Amino acid sequence: MAAELELLPLGPVTNLDTRVLIIGNGLVGKRLAKDFGEAAIVVDYPQVDVTHQYQVEDLVLAHPEAGIVVNAAGYTLVDKAQTEPRQAHLINVVGNRNVAMACEAAGRYAVFLSSETVFGNGQPGREFDESEIPPVFMSPRIRGVYGTSKAMGEFEAWSYFVQGGRGIIGRLSYPSDRESGYFPKVLKFPGLNDDCEIVTTLTPEIAPAIAQAYRLKVTGKVLHLVGTKTSPFEFGNEARRRMGVSPAPPIKVIPNPDRAPRPQYGSLSFNFYV
Ligand SMILES: NC(=O)c1ccc[n+]([C@@H]2O[C@H](COP(=O)([O-])OP(=O)(O)OC[C@H]3O[C@@H](n4cnc5c(N)ncnc54)[C@H](OP(=O)(O)O)[C@@H]3O)[C@@H](O)[C@H]2O)c1
Repeated sequence: MAAELELLPLGPVTNLDTRVLIIGNGLVGKRLAKDFGEAAIVVDYPQVDVTHQYQVEDLVLAHPEAGIVVNAAGYTLVDKAQTEPRQAHLINVVGNRNVAMACEAAGRYAVFLSSETVFGNGQPGREFDESEIPPVFMSPRIRGVYGTSKAMGEFEAWSYFVQGGRGIIGRLSYPSDRESGYFPKVLKFPGLNDDCEIVTTLTPEIAPAIAQAYRLKVTGKVLHLVGTKTSPFEFGNEARRRMGVSPAPPIKVIPNPDRAPRPQYGSLSFNFYV
């Protein structure tokens, strides 16, 4: 299964036999809208508030042509979440629950987007997978508020799968592409600690992977949509190169108490399925 996904072309998806309802029009939602093209139906806040169960149900029922529903809405302010735990919980946990309930009632294929931060810290050279007991949403690892909300959001997705709901969890990590506007943010990465491993998601990979998972009827699985292992330093300088900015030297990091804990060794195993 993983091999079939690895060989997918990037970018536009064609010949999909259904429309795709994308909830959320942020960095990832915009890219999905572009790559699903005419199949995409994009709805964002405040047209729909994922924290309101009936709004999500009404939205899904209003689009019977959409066999796939992607929850690309999220509370994504990783550091700010430390002081806004209720808001992060509402959007990332209750939001996933509402999308799950609506998809279960309407019989749709649901895609829940998640993050490498669900794992908390790891070990050098060891990639995260799902082989650990307890499973990720029960893990006692130290995570920030955002990572905890994403792990609890995954738990909502698992509950949906156990009840027969169809779909996948797609974990992303540092999603970016040339046009997304994310690279400018990444330019500051050379300033971060280089004693750290990350993997990154090329956003044009996401739509083809969702389409293929749907076509292959993959359900109740986690998909790691990530590329090769790198470091914030290398990633930041790659972004600088692509934007025509000269590479930056690593600088010493001053600890910032407002920064949320993140996995220092945050590599996801490539295209891992549970
Ligand atoms: N970006 C990353 O580094 C990263 C990494 C790993 C995983 N992910 C995951 O990927 C998914 C998409 O992230 P992203 O980067 O596209 O985030 P984003 O750019 O922050 O976009 C999130 C979208 O959700 C919308 N939204 C917020 N609250 C809402 C609500 N109550 N109801 C409906 N929509 C709401 C936002 O609308 P407004 O702008 O109007 O608030 C925005 O359009 C999230 O699940 C995120 O956790 C992201």
